[in-house]
Amino acid sequence: MSEHIRVEVEAGVMTLTLARPDKRNAITDAMYAALADALDQAEADAAVRAVLFRGEGEHFSAGNDLADFARFAVEPQAIAGANVFRFLHALARAQTPLVAAVEGQAVGVGTTLLLHCDLVFVADDARLSTPFVNLALTPEAASSLLLPARIGHPRAFAMFALGEAVDGQTAAQWGLANAALPSGEVEARALEAAHALAERPPGAVQAAKRLMREAETLRMVIDREVEIFVERLGSAEAQAAFRAFFERR
Ligand code: COA
Repeated sequence: MSEHIRVEVEAGVMTLTLARPDKRNAITDAMYAALADALDQAEADAAVRAVLFRGEGEHFSAGNDLADFARFAVEPQAIAGANVFRFLHALARAQTPLVAAVEGQAVGVGTTLLLHCDLVFVADDARLSTPFVNLALTPEAASSLLLPARIGHPRAFAMFALGEAVDGQTAAQWGLANAALPSGEVEARALEAAHALAERPPGAVQAAKRLMREAETLRMVIDREVEIFVERLGSAEAQAAFRAFFERR
C-alpha cells in the first residue's frame, strides 16, 4: 500500500484518491502498485459497483513520476517488474465501471487513464495533455488506439506529438468527457454519477461495458506500446528530457 493512494469504499463506490499534491499527484511505482491492487479488489468484491478516480488538491495528476522514468532509463532491468504495467492491464480488463473527476492538470497517464473510464467529469479550466513526444517518449495505456478513435487522428497527433493541451470545455465537446463544470462542482457530480451506477443492476452494467470494449485488443495494444516505450525510455533524448525537467528550476 502506498501512503499516496487513499482507498475508501462507501455505499458501493470505491474512491481512489491520488494523494501526493506536493508533487502534483505524479504517480510513482508504489502508487501504481496500490492502484492495481485496489482495482483487483474492486473486481473481486461484488459490493464494489463503481470506482471513482480523483486527485487531492488542485490537480488531478502530473502523470508518471519523472524521477521513476529517469531511474528506469539507467536501470532498464527494473522495468520488467514495474507496477505501471499491472495497473494498465487492470484498467484494460476492468469490468466494474470507472468514473473520473478531473480538476487542474491531467498530464500523460493522468489523461490516458481517462480513456478507460466510463464516465468522466472535468472542470471547465482543466488541462488535459499527453506530451509524450516532448519527453522523447511514445503513447501508452492503449491511447495510440483509443485517443484517435475518440477525437480523430489530427487532434490526437497534435496532443501526442506537439504536446497540445485541451481545456475542459473542449474535452467535453470532443467526447473525452461527459461534462465540463465549474471548478468545485466536479467531484460532487462525479460522485453522484458513481452512486447512480452503483444503484443500477450490476450484471447489466458490467455486460454493457464488456460489449463496448475489446479488453483483449486493449491489452495487446498496451503490450505493443510498452515495447516501443521502453526502447524510447533508454534513449539519450529521453534522458536529456528528464534532466531538463528536474534542472529547469
Ligand atoms: N514527476 C515527478 N515530479 C513532478 C512531476 C512528475 N511528473 N510533476 C511535478 N512534479 C514535482 C516537481 O518536480 C515539483 O517538485 P519540487 O517542489 O520538489 O521541486 C512539484 O511537483 C511541483 O511542480 P511544479 O512544476 O512546480 O508545479 P506547477 O503547478 O508549476 O506545474 C505541472 C504543474 C503539472 C504543469 C508541471 O509540474 C509539469 O509539467 N509536470 C511534468 C508533467 C509531465 O511531463 N509528466 C509526464 C507525462 S508522460
